Amino acid sequence: MTDRRRIVAGNWKMHGSLGAARELAGALAATAHEPGRGLPEVIVFPPFPHLDAVRRVLEDAESAGTLAVQLGAQDVSSQGEGAHTGDVSAGMLADCGCSHVLVGHSERRTAFRESDELVATKFQRAADQGLIPILCVGETLREREAERTGEIVLRQLAAVMELCGAGGFTRAVLAYEPVWAIGTGHTATPEQAQEVHALLRGEIARTDAKISAGLRILYGGSVNGANAAALFAQPDIDGGLVGGASLDAKEFLRIITAV
Ligand code: 13P
Repeated sequence: MTDRRRIVAGNWKMHGSLGAARELAGALAATAHEPGRGLPEVIVFPPFPHLDAVRRVLEDAESAGTLAVQLGAQDVSSQGEGAHTGDVSAGMLADCGCSHVLVGHSERRTAFRESDELVATKFQRAADQGLIPILCVGETLREREAERTGEIVLRQLAAVMELCGAGGFTRAVLAYEPVWAIGTGHTATPEQAQEVHALLRGEIARTDAKISAGLRILYGGSVNGANAAALFAQPDIDGGLVGGASLDAKEFLRIITAV
């Protein structure tokens, strides 16, 4: 048994209006909870232009009797600053009140051809600015069918380990998101997910057992209120990275209470 505090993260992707973002943040932040009831850490990842408005809503709602919600960004530049049109730096995200940032989400790896090395650089930039990177790894259906799941996720992890060492994971978080489970309704079974989570934790343990034991590894891919509890019951699954179901406050809260 470990005392790793669970995390439930909501990736809003490129959904919704500014008004909808405010409303969703407001609904989450107004949720009453009994202090000390062992709730997970809750983080939301709105689109860039909505970050500041969501931050204000979360700050205004902050009180001892309601859910504490942290703010994260969906991506970060690999560059520190300069002539990089369209990019957003880690320092800017920190200024906006972000505590976390996703790096290497499969939608970025695929649509923007982000390499393992680029993702590792983003991870390092984020960490250097005091942000907590959430490194996403995962295989495609084709790779799973070819029994290459382990090879793929370990390769994605290795690029970050090479640049930052196991020490990079002292604060950082890992997320296993099988590409075939994202937005498809085909959730990995708890056993399938556990197998990959254990592999990832074991890999880090080869370098640093203590960091590995404290590392939170989230599962993402069609998590909802109905399947969350069985996934989170696995010994190496420390919470969820939720897409679609995080856009509905009630459903997201069901996942949070499932922890
Ligand atoms: P879904 O929960 O919609 O499958 O998305 C998962 C995801 O990509 C979260 O980052």
